Amino acid sequence: MCGIVGAVAQRNITPILLEGLKRLEYRGYDSCGVALHVDGQLQRSRSTSRVTDLEQQIEEAHLKGFTGIAHTRWATHGAPASHNAHPHFSPSADLARIALVHNGIIENHDELRAELTALGYVFQSQTDTEVIAHLVDDMYNGDLFDTVQQAVKRLTGAYAIAVFHREEPHRVVAARQGSPLIVGVGQGENFVASDAMALAGTTDQIIYLEEGDVVDLQLGRVWIVDSNGKPAQRDVKTVQAHTGAAELGPYRHYMQKEIFEQPRVIGDTLEGVTGIMPELFGDGAYNVFKQIDRVLILACGTSYYSGLTAKYWIESVARIPVNVEIASEYRYRDSVPHPNSLVVTISQSGETADTLAALKHARSLGMEHTLTICNVATSAMVRECKLAYITRAGVEVGVASTKAFTTQLAGLFLLTLALAQINGRLTDAEEAEHLKSMRHLPVAIASVLALEPQIIAWAEDFARKENALFLGRGMHYPIALEGALKLKEISYIHAEAYPAGELKHGPLALVTEEMPVVTVAPNDALIEKLKSNMQEVRARGGQLYVFADVDSRITSGEGVHVIRLPEHYGLLSPILHVVSLQLLAYHTAVARGTDVDKPRNLAKSVTVE
Ligand code: G6P
Repeated sequence: MCGIVGAVAQRNITPILLEGLKRLEYRGYDSCGVALHVDGQLQRSRSTSRVTDLEQQIEEAHLKGFTGIAHTRWATHGAPASHNAHPHFSPSADLARIALVHNGIIENHDELRAELTALGYVFQSQTDTEVIAHLVDDMYNGDLFDTVQQAVKRLTGAYAIAVFHREEPHRVVAARQGSPLIVGVGQGENFVASDAMALAGTTDQIIYLEEGDVVDLQLGRVWIVDSNGKPAQRDVKTVQAHTGAAELGPYRHYMQKEIFEQPRVIGDTLEGVTGIMPELFGDGAYNVFKQIDRVLILACGTSYYSGLTAKYWIESVARIPVNVEIASEYRYRDSVPHPNSLVVTISQSGETADTLAALKHARSLGMEHTLTICNVATSAMVRECKLAYITRAGVEVGVASTKAFTTQLAGLFLLTLALAQINGRLTDAEEAEHLKSMRHLPVAIASVLALEPQIIAWAEDFARKENALFLGRGMHYPIALEGALKLKEISYIHAEAYPAGELKHGPLALVTEEMPVVTVAPNDALIEKLKSNMQEVRARGGQLYVFADVDSRITSGEGVHVIRLPEHYGLLSPILHVVSLQLLAYHTAVARGTDVDKPRNLAKSVTVE
C-alpha cells in the first residue's frame, strides 16, 4: 500500500528517500516517485516500474537535493500510470511551487476539484491527491505550515500528507488524519515517513503523530500542533525498526522462506510463556478478563480467518460466546453493543484502516475492554488497545500472509486458555497438557513442511485449473477459507471454500471432472460426516485432493488423492493443516509463473478504507 518518506537535511537526501521507498516496497505498490528541491526549482522523477528503476532514472538525471519527498502508490483513484504517480505538483509541472504526496482517500475530492477547476487549475491526473496539492497552492499565504493547517480543514476522509514549497527550501510540512505518519528526529536533519521501518538505518528517534497533528520539519526543528492548532508535546521514542527485509537465503521467494520460518517464529512467539496467566496480554488483563462475558473479534483478510478459528476454540474451551466480524462491515453496521465484551482486533500490520476504524467504532459504542493480537509492537493498533499480545513472526515480506497467520493462531490459543482459566475451565493438568502440545508445534510443523515434494506434485495439476473448491468442517472450515484465499491471491485461480456440509446446498452444482476439491480431513469428531461429503463429490466425478491425518482412514484411489499429515494434533490441528495449504498455493503459483511475493492489485498493509 502507499508509502511516504520525506527529509530536510544539509546533505543529498536521494539515497535516504530511495532506501526508505525500498523498505516500504514489500507492502505492495504500482508506481513510485521522488520530488526534490533543486537550485530553487522543484524537480521530480516518477516510475510505474520498481524503485530500482526510479533509482536509475534519478542517477541518470543527476538529481540531488537537500529537501524532498518520495512515495510508493497503490492505485485507488486513477489507473496505475505515471501521470497519477506521486509526488503531485501545483499549479503545473512547469511552474511547480508545491510538491505533495498523500496516503489515504479524500472523500470530498469531486467537490474540491470542481472548485479548483473554476479557479483555473488544470488537473494532470485522476487522483484525489492532486486536489490537495492545488488546494494548498491556492491557500498559500507565505507560510507553508500555517497554510497546511488551514487547508486540511477543508478535507474529509483519510490522509497522511507531506508537502514542500518552492519558496521555502528547508521545510517539509506533514499532517495526518486516519492514516499513519511518523517523524524521524536526526542531528540537524529531520524526516517523515508512513512507517518507522522506512527510516531504519537513518534514525531510531521516532515520534508517532496523533490524529489531526500537523508537523513543521526544518533543519533543527520539529514543531507539532494538534487538530485545534495548539502546540502538542509528543514523546520521542527509540525504536528498533528492522534494518531491512531479511535475505532470501536458499529460498526462491519470500513467501516460501516465510512458510519455512514457521517452526522458528511459533517457537519465538511462545518463548517465555512458562504458564497460562492473563498478564501474558498486559498489565490489568486479569481485571478485564474477569469483567467480560463475551468476545467480539474484529479483523480483515487472513486475520479474519484466524479470528474465525479462535471462535471455535474460545467457545468450546473457555465457554464464552464469540462474535467474529469483518471490520469493514462492522464499522458501518447498526449492531447491538454489549459493554461486557472483550473487543479483540487481530492484525499483522496493526495499521489496517478498516480494523482501526472498527475498533474506534466499538469504543464509541461503550465497549472499553480492548485487546489486540498484533505483529508490530509500535503500531497504531497496539497503541489504541488496552491490552496486547505481540506475535513474533518478524517482518513478513510476501503479500500473502503465512507466518503472521500461524503466530496469530498461537496467540489466540493462549488467549483461549487464559479465558478458560479465569472461567474455571482449565485444570492444572489440562494447562500442562496444552502447553506441552504448543511447545511441540515447531516439530510438528516441520514434519508438515517435509511433505513439500508431494505437494509440488499436486501443484502441477492445479496449475492447469481455473477453479477450485476447498472444504473443511468445524475449526478446519476457516482453514479451508484461508487455503482458498491463499490460492486465489497468488495463483489467480478462482477458489471458494465451503463448510463441507453446505456443499449440497449449491456448490455441488459446480462439481465436474474438471473441478479439484481440496478437502481438509483431520481425524476429528466430524471425519465420518466429512467422508459422506467427499462421496457426494466423487459421485459427480469431482477430483478430491485430501489432506488427511495419519489415522483418518482415507486411502488414495480413482479420483481421490491423499496426502497424510504425520500426526493428528487435536485442537491445534488447524495450525498444521494450514501449512500444507500454504505450500499448495505457493507451488501452484510458482508453476503458473506469477509474481508470488507481489501479486497483482494487492497490498500488504491496507491503510485506506
Ligand atoms: C491485506 C493483506 C492480507 C491481510 C489483510 C489484513 O489484505 O494482503 O495479507 O490479511 O490486509 O491485514 P492486517 O495487517 O490487518 O492483518
